[in-house]
Amino acid sequence: MRRTIVGLGTASIAWGLTVAVAGGQAAQRQQAPMAEDVFKNVQILKGIPVDRFMGTMGFFSASLGLNCTDCHVGESGGDWARYADDIPLKRTARRMMLMVNSINQMNFGGRQVVTCNTCHRGTNRPNVMPSLALLYSSPPPVEPGELFRQADGQPPADRILDRYLQALGGPDRLSTLASFVASGTYMGYDDTEKSALEIFANAQGQRTTVVHGRAGDTTTTLDGRNGWIAGPLSERPVPLLALTGQELDGVKLEAEVFFPARIKQALTNWRVGFPTSIDDHEVIVVQGTTAGGGTATLCFDDKTSLLLRMVRFVESPVGRIVTQVDYSDYRDVAGVKVPFHWTVTWLDGRSGYELSTVQPNVRIDPAKFATPPSSTSANPRP
Ligand code: HEC
Ligand code: HEC
Repeated sequence: MRRTIVGLGTASIAWGLTVAVAGGQAAQRQQAPMAEDVFKNVQILKGIPVDRFMGTMGFFSASLGLNCTDCHVGESGGDWARYADDIPLKRTARRMMLMVNSINQMNFGGRQVVTCNTCHRGTNRPNVMPSLALLYSSPPPVEPGELFRQADGQPPADRILDRYLQALGGPDRLSTLASFVASGTYMGYDDTEKSALEIFANAQGQRTTVVHGRAGDTTTTLDGRNGWIAGPLSERPVPLLALTGQELDGVKLEAEVFFPARIKQALTNWRVGFPTSIDDHEVIVVQGTTAGGGTATLCFDDKTSLLLRMVRFVESPVGRIVTQVDYSDYRDVAGVKVPFHWTVTWLDGRSGYELSTVQPNVRIDPAKFATPPSSTSANPRP
């Protein structure tokens, strides 16, 4: 027993270091509480902020095809504190983290090439035999988002981005869009009805999104530097969740898409991959790196040059946490094309956003972009 505890301690130190390096300067932008400061029984996943810790839980669920409560006591579904209780599956998951860490250390120079998903692929019991059914079925569609280098024979990213800016209305028009206030609806993965949605945004990278859900409001705010999600405790373990590092970069990039005049500056190390297709659309695939080292891939419709999909991933101690946004229904707002519909898909959820009105260039009270008050959202878990 004691030996296990010593082993766990060492592992958490090793991970702390990897994460600190991967997070780069982005992690230092703000002081967010660490998982072990907020949760009661964190033995391995120490030294990472709460948003990354929760992303890691989503990675577990997706890789193993399990629900949150499969690795936690059933009562945790109604009480965040009960997530601290240990059950055999949760202990196995801890052991597996150590196993994966040592596989990568001993065989791959510490690079994160083996993850939970490498073996599990969506099931709790990895298959020991190759699957004949899979072998003789048509291969699953290629998922854009993997890291790539500039592909041979492809145009430079600059040219693709210029075509995109032109298709949206051209750089001159784009520079006249300084702010907007929008309203519409939001629909979560397991919601049965739509909720009212409000968005306040400006070209300085400030953006506040409010979803008036049944359990209470969920407010996502970017103040231009930092970001938070404030919402009912039925949805997140803390009433005010700080967005950090590569995740913060990613949410900022999602906001930039609505003021794309600065899109070229939003990422670095731009590269163009081989064209592919999404549904029936031929797409040009462009990838870049965020300030904190995250990766974002933009898929542009070859015909219209508009952005159809953005796939971004952030690094975590156990693997890449991927988020995909699909844009559609571009409409004209003050001479600029704006997507009125988008769907965000991530490892443990999917949400649809639909705009009905967008008022361009209205004055927005700066207080809208202040840290959201967590008190309005401290609703009891239903
Ligand atoms: C494959 C198993 C597994 C799945 C699935 C899983 N977890 Fe966990 N969870 C763990 C392990 C292991 C820990 C402890 C991590 C450590 O000790 O570093 C943990 C810890 C937690 C904690 C911290 C509890 C405390 O106070 O110490 C929370 C909260 C949590 N999980 C929430 C979730 C949520 C929400 C989901 C679903 C999205 C989820 N978990 C899915 C294995 C899992
Ligand atoms: C090298 C392959 C491999 C990797 C990587 C791996 N696992 Fe496993 N895991 C297994 C195998 C094999 C089993 C089944 C063992 C058995 O049948 O006794 C298993 C079983 C489990 C179980 C028990 C499932 C059950 O229903 O009993 C959990 C939980 C689990 N793994 C979590 C994880 C997590 C979390 C990760 C990533 C940190 C991970 N595993 C990475 C091979 C792997």
